[in-house]
Amino acid sequence: MRLLLRKPEITKVSDRITGNGSLRSRQGFKTCNRSIVTSCRAVLLPRFGGPDVLQLRDNVNVPDLKPNEVLVRARAVSINPLDTRMRAGYGRSIFEPLMPLILGRDISGEVAAIGNSVRSLGIGQEVFGALHPTAVRGTYTDYAILAEDELAPKPAPISHVEASAIPFAALTAWRALKSTARIAQGQRVLVVGGGGAVGLSAIQLAVAAGCHVSTTCGGESIDRVLAAGAEDAVDYNMEDLEVAIKGYFDAVLDTIGLPETERIGINLLKRGGHYMTLQGEAASLTDRYGLAIGLPLATGILLKKQIQYRYSHGIEYWWTYMRADAEGLEEIRRLSEAGRLKIPVEKTFSITQVREAHQAKDRKGHVPGKIVLELEK
Ligand SMILES: NC(=O)c1ccc[n+]([C@@H]2O[C@H](COP(=O)([O-])OP(=O)(O)OC[C@H]3O[C@@H](n4cnc5c(N)ncnc54)[C@H](OP(=O)(O)O)[C@@H]3O)[C@@H](O)[C@H]2O)c1
Repeated sequence: MRLLLRKPEITKVSDRITGNGSLRSRQGFKTCNRSIVTSCRAVLLPRFGGPDVLQLRDNVNVPDLKPNEVLVRARAVSINPLDTRMRAGYGRSIFEPLMPLILGRDISGEVAAIGNSVRSLGIGQEVFGALHPTAVRGTYTDYAILAEDELAPKPAPISHVEASAIPFAALTAWRALKSTARIAQGQRVLVVGGGGAVGLSAIQLAVAAGCHVSTTCGGESIDRVLAAGAEDAVDYNMEDLEVAIKGYFDAVLDTIGLPETERIGINLLKRGGHYMTLQGEAASLTDRYGLAIGLPLATGILLKKQIQYRYSHGIEYWWTYMRADAEGLEEIRRLSEAGRLKIPVEKTFSITQVREAHQAKDRKGHVPGKIVLELEK
């Protein structure tokens, strides 16, 4: 396949704003409800498969902005496990009728245009953020479109590459710990699988909230999780978790979500505690049985587990998912700016090497840590 590398077509704002478009100046920023860019490069997913199905295309349409939307000139986009899973067919019951998709959730870049109702951001401002899990037009593109509440000013001390690694993972951890379990100072939190981006975010968010954090991880991640603030780290390849993990917890965030980790996590909770897995079955069941059967089936399974564990263990059981949260992103920005929330980036690739980047992410263990795609100026 040939990769097309031409520059995006950019039309001057003054040439394009006619009819119901609007252009005005506010606090030195221009606003418009039409994108100043009509087309740009983007990585398209025309069908499910391996990394080779990804196609970097030129002249991909950039839609007009809705009033609450922001056009972001991407500088760096990180690769999440959701991207490689979507590429391989995860969520096909939702995504297949909408193909070709643009993959990618995370972004760091500059505001290129804003919709009429956007108040908190202005053109030229450096921002970072993440799209929700079901967005069809993702961030693997020169110009991505996000809602105002999916973006915040980029933490000043860190690069676009570093900033792009944070939002999706940290918002996932935020949703579980802060919105669902409502963790509070002095509580004990267990992060099962603390070595990945969500696990590291969870450790750092819980420490920032004044909690005592224990975690399990692979041997290579021990130093990193301790540096992130975990008080105990158990190598799940070397130790019997049920013997090695001491005491009981107010919240367990399980990033692995296997039957074994679920059983251990639930048994380690205090009464009234929260078990949260990132591996909810809603998407896999709807993929297998279709939306009409899969969704009610998933709801039934979740409800049954919630009732069962409430009676047997006195705990709350949750499947948690990433969700945009302006308040959460602002706190994540504040902690990142203060150096208290970091996600290490292991390797960067140019957007033109997106297939190689996905190959590297697929080879678990070969490239530990975050992989980021860079977009040239
Ligand atoms: N429900 C949702 O909305 C949601 C949102 C985000 C993610 N997820 C899911 O949650 C899971 C974790 O996501 P993630 O973004 O945290 O994935 P990730 O960063 O790719 O990490 C996944 C695993 O890779 C290992 N790893 C990472 N860096 C390593 C290193 N330097 N050395 C050795 N091992 C390393 C870690 O294992 P060790 O523990 O062995 O160190 C980690 O548990 C994925 O299955 C993802 O699909 C779900």
